[in-house]
Amino acid sequence: MSFLTHLECSRTGQQYDPRQLHNLSADGAPLLARYDLERVAGSLKKSDLQQRPPHMWRYHEVLPVGSPEEIVSLGEGYTPLHRAERLGAWAGCSHLYIKDESLNPTGSFKARGMATAVSAARARGARRLAVPSAGNAGGALAAYAAAAGLEAFVFMPRDVPLAFQVECRACGAQVELIEGLISDCGRVVAQRKEAEGWFEVSTLKEPYRVEGKKTMGYELAEQLGWELPEAVIYPTGGGTGLIGMWKAFAEMEQLGWIGARRPRMFSVQAAGCAPIVRAFEQGEERAVPWEKAHTVAAGLRVPGAVGDFLMLRAIRQSGGAAVAVSDEEIMDACRHFARCTGILPAPEGGAALAGLLALKERGLVGAGERIALFNTGSGYKYLEAFSLP
Ligand SMILES: Cc1ncc(COP(=O)(O)O)c(C=O)c1O
Repeated sequence: MSFLTHLECSRTGQQYDPRQLHNLSADGAPLLARYDLERVAGSLKKSDLQQRPPHMWRYHEVLPVGSPEEIVSLGEGYTPLHRAERLGAWAGCSHLYIKDESLNPTGSFKARGMATAVSAARARGARRLAVPSAGNAGGALAAYAAAAGLEAFVFMPRDVPLAFQVECRACGAQVELIEGLISDCGRVVAQRKEAEGWFEVSTLKEPYRVEGKKTMGYELAEQLGWELPEAVIYPTGGGTGLIGMWKAFAEMEQLGWIGARRPRMFSVQAAGCAPIVRAFEQGEERAVPWEKAHTVAAGLRVPGAVGDFLMLRAIRQSGGAAVAVSDEEIMDACRHFARCTGILPAPEGGAALAGLLALKERGLVGAGERIALFNTGSGYKYLEAFSLP
């Protein structure tokens, strides 16, 4: 079912046994899952996918779960890719597509990552899972842990939107609200995990959330007839969406499903927390943590990311860029997004749209290019943000 062979340190290439639970590599870098893609290519043609059900497990050969019984699923993935004609006309783009991740279980793309992480962790013996979260990841962990019959421990900033707290508690997770940011929540998890017997599923600190998220890249190719767009616009915090899709493109090329051409990858961050933009502009390989991070787009309030170098590498290799947008631009864009599409986006999705406007103004994307813009979550969970004057 899965052709997973090993885990590989993203910095040194050192290999690890995928049958055991792992967090970071011995060098403190994210571990990436590797598959026997030659064997996958021999047993699966891309046309076979047409017969498969419309969820992300249609790509099970390149996912890290060994048997159907091990899968914990709420029907995540295969979200719609809309041709957004009215929004495109407003933004001055003739070929704008919206990948609407708000239709995932729990209302965001985080469901994909937690489906793989929880499935893989349970199959490898974990029973108590802990995560620091800006909101959506916590909600997704709570839901998938509930579906799996595991315990979930979620640490969120005290000012996280109310919907996330309600969702986590309703699904049976133990929630602690922390004074500070997601980085402070991460410190609490790191300090207590050993004594509490928690397996930590923080962004890129275990190898499989990014595997679920990479399916967005597979879907993008499949939904566009195996022709990738010229540009991908993605709101980035910890960066798993962007890193995952970049990995998917490389795998699909090895499978012979696509050619060597890649979309230019554009990261959008909030002006109040833009470490990747700053590192990109300064030509740095790593990003210095952002001080006093603040933004209405809770998922983008990530001052430091363990996968910063992977994000920056993907952006640069693709010929893309990183841009920052203000909270005012984000909420303005959210309203235009909703009015022109009927989709109430998360502020992070609004940020992506505001980012597109900024990129167009700078001449970094063209009016006639095919552009895939990601609405990563649902606005229904951010009623506070939409209620601001
Ligand atoms: C709706 C939404 N979009 C984007 C992001 C950023 O995702 P990542 O941390 O994978 O870059 C988050 C993270 O919490 C989110 O909740």
